[in-house]
Amino acid sequence: MTRVFVLTNHKGGVGKSTSATNIAFGLTAVLRRAGASNSRVLLVDTDSQGHATLVTTGRNNYGADDSLYTVLMADRQAAPQVLANCIVPSTWDENLHVLPASPMLEGAERELIGVAGAPYRLADPLSRIANQYAAVVIDTRPSFSLMTEMGLLAATDAIVPVEPRYLETVGLMSVINKINEVREGWRHPNLRISGILITKLDMRVRGHKHLLEELQSHSILGKLICGVIPANEAVSYAHHNHQSIFAYDPQCPASKAYAQLVGQLVRQMAKAGA
Ligand SMILES: Nc1ncnc2c1ncn2[C@@H]1O[C@H](COP(=O)(O)OP(=O)(O)OP(=O)(O)O)[C@@H](O)[C@H]1O
Ligand SMILES: [Mg+2]
Repeated sequence: MTRVFVLTNHKGGVGKSTSATNIAFGLTAVLRRAGASNSRVLLVDTDSQGHATLVTTGRNNYGADDSLYTVLMADRQAAPQVLANCIVPSTWDENLHVLPASPMLEGAERELIGVAGAPYRLADPLSRIANQYAAVVIDTRPSFSLMTEMGLLAATDAIVPVEPRYLETVGLMSVINKINEVREGWRHPNLRISGILITKLDMRVRGHKHLLEELQSHSILGKLICGVIPANEAVSYAHHNHQSIFAYDPQCPASKAYAQLVGQLVRQMAKAGA
């Protein structure tokens, strides 16, 4: 079964899109280097802001006919083919493909109210084409909205990026609870919490160091930490250039940290597939 990673946290600006795009690119690169028969990765952008779409495709003005919005509005029978038709190549790597977001997704939730099976309008068609990919990575918007529930219902692995700031970590338990609620309450047993990813860590900031230590020693959350990404200016320069962090500066601290995380994910995938 193709692993479908979802980057989720209802807090804004915690590094969801940065992580989704760089994990997706990193998976493609590592799988290719490892000689995998299929190293294709699909990035699905469910956020109407379209940041992941913009940096990986160079534009974010996808609309009624060529985006995730199109898939959500499609007739159920036709949706898998519509989804396949809306996928575009990324500018980052020929094996990294993108299902683009659209500003129209902003109104999609309202349009889907009362539509039978609305929360499954991404999961159902995606499950029909996912086996063409080695992995799928879903970026979500900063809210517990229907769009985010759609992302969670389509996923097998949730990664929760969090900044080492007090109020961010206070909200962390509610993200974990939301994921558990989707798994148990919505009967989606394949969804597991892959890990908490600490982002933008600056060890020079006393509060960051303190919160990291507190999280690491937390009886539940501590065991879930899957990586630590340092605060690194190179990340914003990479965004500005519409490049992955690996292409912008393979030696910078954020590149090394994302490479370590991706390596870990690939090893887990290999173990699960063995
Ligand atoms: N490791 C990092 N070091 C420095 N800046 C970072 C790092 N990761 C992300 N950023 C910056 O933080 C900002 C938010 O990042 P990003 O867009 O990935 O977060 P997000 O969770 O997707 O935000 P939103 O909730 O709005 O979708 C961006 O300006 C990005 O350049
Ligand atoms: Mg984002």
